Amino acid sequence: FAGRQPYSPWPPTHTSLLLFGAYIEGRHESGTVAIIPDDRFETAVEIARSLLSNDGRDGSRGGGEWSPACVTIDGRLVCACLALGAEMEGCSIGTIEGLATGDQLHPLQKKFVEMAALQCGVCTPGFLVAAKALLDRNADPSETEIRYWLAGNLCRCTGYDKIVRAVMDVAAEMRETAR
Ligand code: FES
Repeated sequence: FAGRQPYSPWPPTHTSLLLFGAYIEGRHESGTVAIIPDDRFETAVEIARSLLSNDGRDGSRGGGEWSPACVTIDGRLVCACLALGAEMEGCSIGTIEGLATGDQLHPLQKKFVEMAALQCGVCTPGFLVAAKALLDRNADPSETEIRYWLAGNLCRCTGYDKIVRAVMDVAAEMRETAR
């Protein structure tokens, strides 16, 4: 693994497929997971499932093929089913469960509902986490940038346009609010 990036890159690449397995233990802290090493081998997606008792990544197949396994590690978007846990010691993992504040949905969540940017919802957690990671680093992404950023996420229901429009709308609203 010499010379590779500290986390699996996003979108997933062939190289990232080598990064299975990890040893990790963690605890739930307001939607993030603080990682400490243990003698178990787990991927980040399994950690999130076991520590947060969540189902936000239930669509994940563990191969990085599509979207449900998106999480952020210290703010960086990764495919959790491919992330090597040993690399996450001391890091915070952002998950779909941490997106809302109490019973207040994140603007992206509200917009997805408002614009019907989801149908079956299997892909939705991954799209939301990915979109938030994009808006956190770029408050004014172009449509092309949004489509590229979300390219690792697959949706079999909506056809993508509603999702992209929702992200563009939220970005515009957040910029307006920040003025
Ligand atoms: Fe069904 Fe995206 S809403 S796969």
